[in-house]
Amino acid sequence: MMDNPFEFGRELGTDELVDRQAEVTAVIETLRQGTKLFLIGPRRFGKTSILKTAEDRLVGKNSVVLRFDAESFPSLDLLVSALIAAAAKSLKGKVERVGDQITKFFSKLRPELSFSITQDAWNAKLGVNVASSQEAHVGLLVEALNGLEALAADQPEGRTVGLIIDEFQKVIEIGGLQAESQIRAAIQRHKRVGYVFAGSKTRMLTDMTMDATRPFYRLGQIRFIGPVPSEDFEVFLKGKFRAGGFRVDDPDAITRILQLAEDVPYNVQLLAHTCWYELRNQSATNPASLTPEIVDAAMLLIARQYDPFYTQIWSALTAIQQKTLLAVISEAGAGLQSRKVSQFVGRGASTVQRSVGSLIEKDILREEEHEGATRLRFEDPFFSQWIRAFPARAAGLIQA
Ligand SMILES: Nc1ncnc2c1ncn2[C@@H]1O[C@H](COP(=O)(O)OP(=O)(O)O)[C@@H](O)[C@H]1O
Ligand SMILES: [Mg+2]
Repeated sequence: MMDNPFEFGRELGTDELVDRQAEVTAVIETLRQGTKLFLIGPRRFGKTSILKTAEDRLVGKNSVVLRFDAESFPSLDLLVSALIAAAAKSLKGKVERVGDQITKFFSKLRPELSFSITQDAWNAKLGVNVASSQEAHVGLLVEALNGLEALAADQPEGRTVGLIIDEFQKVIEIGGLQAESQIRAAIQRHKRVGYVFAGSKTRMLTDMTMDATRPFYRLGQIRFIGPVPSEDFEVFLKGKFRAGGFRVDDPDAITRILQLAEDVPYNVQLLAHTCWYELRNQSATNPASLTPEIVDAAMLLIARQYDPFYTQIWSALTAIQQKTLLAVISEAGAGLQSRKVSQFVGRGASTVQRSVGSLIEKDILREEEHEGATRLRFEDPFFSQWIRAFPARAAGLIQA
């Protein structure tokens, strides 16, 4: 029997992505041409997978690509050290010569390099005094970017250098407004390095790049990552279930997966993955057929499986926040300022508004702008399914 073909959580690579051709191409071109691109979209929509695919496609194409996730570095000086180590690794050649070159390009940071033969990896420490203030760290990052530009300028004809920073908003959250202006001042002069900045705090990054008074305004191209088009996902899902020997006779089954997952790629894959196991257990009917009932059973299984996790999030919320979430579900994310919602929550519209703001801050809700209207969505659509299945039902708020 075939392995479960639905993957969630891992960064996907070449030939694993549904759609996203245009996005991958835009990232590749930015890195190759030394321009700048912001890739903005909610979590779990596939940004990291787009970046990885672009990186994979450039391997062996006379390109250096450095990719970092800003959220995995507790402070910016550690990101800077990692950047220098990766730059050293990209310079193929004798250890001594690479060391000399890195020392030259990043001279202002006085890097101390060591090479581990066993791990085939470079390690870099900053020789400059690393002050504890995050503002000072922004200065280090700017020096590192200047060093990378010098390195790029020194490459043989045709060899390009690109830098990808994923979850880029973290850099700005750490460094503040002055990080924006300092980074802009440096990289707007850079002509060699291609920059791709991706991030999931959609509102924050949109403000940062679209507001004429902010430093990143018109610094580069902007691309918003939406859901994967449902027709493409349908073809993908149907194809994989059938290739695994299952029948998909009822088109509503596939629609049901996309609907419960609210088209969020991570959730689509997780639900399809669980359906696959459910189908395998139905060995009595052979070959098993995917039905909307099986999808619902899989959904309930996931809600139960993640129950401790969701319970923890739910119990940490105030009663007003919990009611706000119930209202988001019953109103389908729109009209939270209405009297009806205020009455339900038992507080005025401004309190509801603040509650919504705090839930966005906690990454539980996100705002979705679409054709001139704003709608509230759950970052994790399965949390809303869990609320429907358990606390809302227990409180008699949602009928079975
Ligand atoms: N284009 C896609 N096609 C199929 N599945 C996808 C796609 N993009 C994302 N996914 C699913 O979503 C998961 C999370 O993707 P990821 O790239 O980590 O998202 P992000 O970086 O936006 O949080 C992947 O492991 C995969 O299951
Ligand atoms: Mg990511």
